[in-house]
Amino acid sequence: MRQPLVVGNWKMNGRVGEAEELAEAIAEAELDWDHVGAGICPPFPLIDRVAGTVGDSPVAWGAQNMHAEDGGAFTGEVHGPLLRDLGCTYVIVGHSERREHFGETNQQVAAKFFAAKRNGLVPIVCVGETEAERDAGRAEAVVRDQVQAVLGDGKEDVFRDAVIAYEPVWAIGTGRTATPEQAQEMHALIRDLVKAGYPVTGQSLKILYGGSMKAASAPELMAQDDIDGGLIGGASLKADEFIGILRAAVASDL
Ligand code: 13P
Repeated sequence: MRQPLVVGNWKMNGRVGEAEELAEAIAEAELDWDHVGAGICPPFPLIDRVAGTVGDSPVAWGAQNMHAEDGGAFTGEVHGPLLRDLGCTYVIVGHSERREHFGETNQQVAAKFFAAKRNGLVPIVCVGETEAERDAGRAEAVVRDQVQAVLGDGKEDVFRDAVIAYEPVWAIGTGRTATPEQAQEMHALIRDLVKAGYPVTGQSLKILYGGSMKAASAPELMAQDDIDGGLIGGASLKADEFIGILRAAVASDL
């Protein structure tokens, strides 16, 4: 009932030529597109190029970050209305690399989440514990707090038209994928949190897994009840790997 979604987070990678080549290969992949949603989130200056390349193929595009304000004196930042003008469907907010290297707090992430929604973008909000937090038995508490920061007082159905990505920090770029059981456990916890206040939204919410997902590991992960696709870093930079993951998503929907 939840169509799988696979989104590539290119991070700070890609030059003009290779971005167009990669986007074109993905857009032209022979897939049963009725069974998967796909998105590409390149660096800001490449968004327009990727958009022009994928055109009206089934591949959507988005950004990796945004500012919480809709404009103003914030040198070097990018606002939601511009992302909207560029035809973005998605925007990633609260990626662990933003939290770690740029000090983004749960509150700032929540502000970006609402800025995305206000501008008609689908926020993909990232949550996930570090290795130290997992070792200390705090993984669930950390993820719960990160989700709760967006839920707030629970008076609004905030996760409608939004996506959550569970990305355990220890699995990102390390080649150490979470086991399907570890991931499923956390995805179920996240879904239950949302369902507690909003059963319909909780049931339909897409929860993506991110962290060293490859074409080879995707089928087992996506076979889990509460894993609805992937947010892909390294493997999204290789057309055959990314298309392999898209294929696994299609298979999980059939
Ligand atoms: P990797 O797939 O490179 O581990 O990155 C995952 C990620 O951070 C996606 O946002």
